[in-house]
Amino acid sequence: MSKVDILMPRAMLPVVMRGLEEKFTVHKPFEAADPDGLMAEVADRIRGIAVLGTRIDAEFLVKFPNVEIASNFGVGYDNINVADCSAKNIVVTNTPDVLTEEVADTALGLLIMTARELSAAEKWLRDGKWESKGPYPLTGATLVGRTLGIFGLGRIGKAIAKRAEAFGLKVHYYGRTRQADVAYPYHDSLLGLADACDTLMVVAPGGPETHHAVNSEVLAALGSNGILINIGRGTVVDEAALIEALEKRVIYGAGLDVFEDEPHVPAGLMALDRVTLLPHVGSASVQTRDAMGQLVVDNLTSWFETGKAVTPVPG
Ligand code: DGY
Repeated sequence: MSKVDILMPRAMLPVVMRGLEEKFTVHKPFEAADPDGLMAEVADRIRGIAVLGTRIDAEFLVKFPNVEIASNFGVGYDNINVADCSAKNIVVTNTPDVLTEEVADTALGLLIMTARELSAAEKWLRDGKWESKGPYPLTGATLVGRTLGIFGLGRIGKAIAKRAEAFGLKVHYYGRTRQADVAYPYHDSLLGLADACDTLMVVAPGGPETHHAVNSEVLAALGSNGILINIGRGTVVDEAALIEALEKRVIYGAGLDVFEDEPHVPAGLMALDRVTLLPHVGSASVQTRDAMGQLVVDNLTSWFETGKAVTPVPG
């Protein structure tokens, strides 16, 4: 029996390449001399797509009339227009759970780095300033006594909350719905959450619903001791408003793992102190990324063997 044809628009981890090539015929335009020519040639045969960041919407899908499943690498799938996929009966899958603990660890690390200026302090040592100038200046912020507002209390948000509690922080949250299984105080607006907290942890997904939800008003509500951490998606924060709030000391500092236009980071952010900037490394360990890659493979395999995906997203 001939193998199912899968499209891989962009290069993916070896675990994905190997896993898919064992079972499927994988088409890789990024290795072809004429990528568009290759895609046009195989378009009608493609039944599944292994997705890494490619925008999948009606415009893309019109070229591939027989696609049944788009298997996304990443828990966030704002690169995929799920409504367009559902309209064509295409199942969309993502990679939840396997990255939860890793991203939560990074989130807490980023918060501590930001409050205690650990990046800058290490640079001070490496630059020889400890010897030449003396101790690194005392940090104006501390983690102690903070109230952490979590925007998006899903699986990752809850793992962050658990860690934050262990660090002695008070935890509040805002999300689309109040959750029956948690006792943390709920706020029915992001502004209300920011008003009640001095530290805002953004874990929310990207997309039109959350675009620029963290705006100048929310930042002002956080206050002059406020620290913003974004581990979710860059588009959730109005970056221009954030830069202004930091420059004018409307808030104290920020720790960002994600940006509006990755991998571009605005010069305005780069120039600021009290800001920790990471290159979207929330889930980026070999172990976790391999587990995510395996789930991309498992979703495609399960779909074509049993007609059921392992981790479909709501349609
Ligand atoms: C995710 O899984 O969405 C992370 O941001 C890594 O891309």
